[in-house]
Amino acid sequence: FCLIIDFGSQVTQLIARRLRESNVYCEIHPFQNVDDTFLKARKPKAVILSGGPGSVPQAGSPRAPQYLFEMGVPLFGICYGQQVMMDQLGGRVESGHHAEFGRAYVEPTTGHKNDGIFAALFEAGREQVWMSHGDRVTALAPGFEVIGTSANAPFAMIADEARRFYAVQFHPEVHHTPHGARMLGNFLKLAGFTGDWTMGAYREEAIAKIRAQVGDKRVICGLSGGVDSSVAAVLIHEAIGDQLTCVFVDHGLLRLNEADEVVTMFRDNYNIPLIHADESDLFLGKLEGVSDPETKRKIIGGLFIDVFQKYANEIEGAEFLAQGTLYPDVIESVSFSGGPSVTIKSHHNVGGLPEKMGLKLVEPLRELFKDEVRALGRELGLPAGFIGRHPFPGPGLAIRCPGEITREKLEILRKADAVYIDQIRRHGLYDEIWQAFAAILPMRTVGVMGDGRTYDFALALRAVTSVDGMTADYYPFTHDFLGETSTRIINEVRGINRVFYDCTSKPPGTIELE
Ligand code: XMP
Repeated sequence: FCLIIDFGSQVTQLIARRLRESNVYCEIHPFQNVDDTFLKARKPKAVILSGGPGSVPQAGSPRAPQYLFEMGVPLFGICYGQQVMMDQLGGRVESGHHAEFGRAYVEPTTGHKNDGIFAALFEAGREQVWMSHGDRVTALAPGFEVIGTSANAPFAMIADEARRFYAVQFHPEVHHTPHGARMLGNFLKLAGFTGDWTMGAYREEAIAKIRAQVGDKRVICGLSGGVDSSVAAVLIHEAIGDQLTCVFVDHGLLRLNEADEVVTMFRDNYNIPLIHADESDLFLGKLEGVSDPETKRKIIGGLFIDVFQKYANEIEGAEFLAQGTLYPDVIESVSFSGGPSVTIKSHHNVGGLPEKMGLKLVEPLRELFKDEVRALGRELGLPAGFIGRHPFPGPGLAIRCPGEITREKLEILRKADAVYIDQIRRHGLYDEIWQAFAAILPMRTVGVMGDGRTYDFALALRAVTSVDGMTADYYPFTHDFLGETSTRIINEVRGINRVFYDCTSKPPGTIELE
C-alpha cells in the first residue's frame, strides 16, 4: 500500500482520493503514529508526506522518522512534506517573506524528458498549480535537482531520481492543479503500483477482516435505510450470516412507505435478521410542542439511543456494534486544524452509543469515501436505485417541518415530498441532484381553488448539487418544471395551496431548513 503521512493539511484527504482514483490502496496516518516500528511492521511500498500548518524552521515542528529515508522506498513530499524532506536530508528551509497562496505556473527545467515523473506533463509548456505556503526551501539536499520552477518558488518541483525521492512546493491533490493527479499517478507508477485495487478485492479483504475481528460473537447493526448502514449490514451479513441482527428504529419521521421498503428489502430479500422498532408514538409524543431545531435534534438523538439500547439488550450475547463510519469521519477526528469549531447543527445522532453500551465497534467502511461505498454496494448486488438514493438526515422529517411538528403536517409533507421526487425522477434529474426534498412551512396562506377560499400550508421545495454536502448550489430547474411540479403538488396533496422554490446556496443557507 501507499502510506500518506498526515502533517495536518486541510486537504490530506484529497491525496487519498486521488490515489484511490488510480486504483491504488492507501492509508492516511497522522505523523505522530508513524515511527520506525510502524514502518517496519506495515512496510509501505511508497510514502507521501502531506502538507501541514507547521513551520519547519520552528523548533518542535513535526518531522518524519529518520528511518523513512533509509527504507529504500519512493517518497513524494508535498508542501510542508517537501520542507520536512529537505530539512531532514540536509537542505535548508526558511521562513519569511515567501508566503504564496493561489494559482501559479511551473515551467520545467531544460532537459526534462517526457517520461517518468514527467509523463504527459508540460505538454503545453507549463503547468498550472496551486500554491499555499508560508515557508520555502532555499537550499536543496544533496542528491536533489530542480525539475520545475515557478516565479516565486525556484524549487517548485525537485527530484532525486536515484533514490526516487520527489517533492513539490505546491498541492498536486487539489482540483486547482489540473494535472496534479497525473503527477501523483506518475509517482505511483514509478513506485511499482499497477492500479489493481478494486472493490472486488476490497470486499474480500473486508469480509476476512470482519470474520477475524468478530469470531463467533454476535453483532448488532443500527439500520437507518441510508446507503452507509445498508452497505455495512449487507457486507457484515455476508461475512458472518445470522450472527448479525439489525435494529431499525422507526421514529415516525420517515418518508412515504420508507419503513416498509427497508423492512422488506432486508428481511425478505436479504434474509437479514431485523427488528423493526416502531417507536413513532414515543418520538412524536416527546416532540409535541417543541419547535427549536437543536432541541428537536437532542430529543431525537437521546431517544434514539434509549430505544436502540432497549432493543439491543434483548439480543443475547452481543459484543459488537456495527457502524457505517466513513473515511472522512475518521480523518476529521484526527485533524490538527486546532481551535474548536462552531456547532451549526449537532449532526452526530448516535454519538456515545458504543461507550454507553459497552460494545466494541465493527466499522467495515472506515477506509472508504462515499462514492466508494456506493461502488461496494453495487459490488454486493444492492439495487442501483437504492444505492443512488439521496442522503437523508438522521432526524428525518423533523427538520423538514420547521417549527412545531404535528402528525397532520407530517402526513401532508410525506405526500408532497413523494410527488416532488416522482417529478424529479420522471424528468430524469434525480442522479444530477445531490439532495432534493420538500419542507412544510410553519404558516398558512390564502388561496382560491374552484370557487372556494383555501387557507392551507405552504411548501418549500429544495434541490441542491454538491460534492460532499459541505457546500452546495441550488439546482437550476426550468420554470416549466417548477410550474408543473407546483400544479401537481397542489392538485394531488390536500392541505397545500402554495409552493415555493428555495434558491439559496450553502453558504449562506444550509441544505436542510433546520
Ligand atoms: P446541512 O443542513 O447542515 O446538511 O447543510 C448537510 C448534510 O447533512 C445532512 N444533515 C444531517 N444528517 N443528522 C444527520 O444524520 C442531522 O442532524 C443532519 N442535519 C443535516 C443533510 O441532509 C445534508 O446531507
